[in-house]
Amino acid sequence: MGEPQLKIPPNASLDELLSDIARLESVFDQWDENQKSAVENYRKSVDDLHREAFRRFIASVKSDPAAMAGLKSALGDEIVYAVLRHFELIRPSLQERVEEALDSIRPMLASHGGDVELVAVRPPDQVDVRFIGACDGCPASMLTFTAGVKKAIETHCPEITKIAQIRGLADPSAANGGVQFVSPFAVSQTGGWLEAGALADIPEGGVLKLKIASENVLLSKNGDIVSCFQNACAHLNLPLDEGEIVGGILTCPHHGFQYDLQSGECLTAPEVQLQPHAVRVINGLVEVRLAT
Ligand code: FES
Repeated sequence: MGEPQLKIPPNASLDELLSDIARLESVFDQWDENQKSAVENYRKSVDDLHREAFRRFIASVKSDPAAMAGLKSALGDEIVYAVLRHFELIRPSLQERVEEALDSIRPMLASHGGDVELVAVRPPDQVDVRFIGACDGCPASMLTFTAGVKKAIETHCPEITKIAQIRGLADPSAANGGVQFVSPFAVSQTGGWLEAGALADIPEGGVLKLKIASENVLLSKNGDIVSCFQNACAHLNLPLDEGEIVGGILTCPHHGFQYDLQSGECLTAPEVQLQPHAVRVINGLVEVRLAT
């Protein structure tokens, strides 16, 4: 009899390992309640064993500074980190706690047609955020900031004492992979970015009509701000690309609804707004992640 074939190759990534678990879980989901309960009990027993083993292991290395330094270094490995987090043997990272804080405030901001994105975590005590949509530039923005976002971050991350509200493009020379601009929802999600051409192709103060993955979108650039919206008026879903633009305000060519091209806010009927899509600019190239 030959060697049993390993399903997961050595040095598999966290994603590969997790997708294997997800595949098994989708099989268990088809089972009856008794079978599912048996699987759950088995999983819990194995988890308890591993958690206790890791707990004892960490307790034993704590007394040795060199071993502790090695353990801290090992936490840089995504699989080691994910497993120890799963067993709640290490605290969530500052980044995770900040994202959790922002997630907790998003429903309130969304109810005002806005969102907030995490621009940067600057240990030990600063976080940079940017408002998106109707939050950005609205007179109540600072109030929303202090009352909501600031409180949420301070509650989840007491070590953060400085919260900076960022506007416009980030420094292109920043050591973040050349990402100059990210908006919106980009920090809490990964992947799904689609090429949308060169930043230079978007007329300053105007719009560029594009079709991306069968979606008709408008890219707009106004100074440091790049936005992407569905090319569909909130009134009757008719295209907006031939509308007149004056001072960052686009007027629908059909019945005159007006929109702020920075936030997508409708000035004619404040209860509606343009459908925004996430945008980022990397080294002068624009990428869009379509809203689902
Ligand atoms: S379709 Fe735009 S205002 Fe009517």
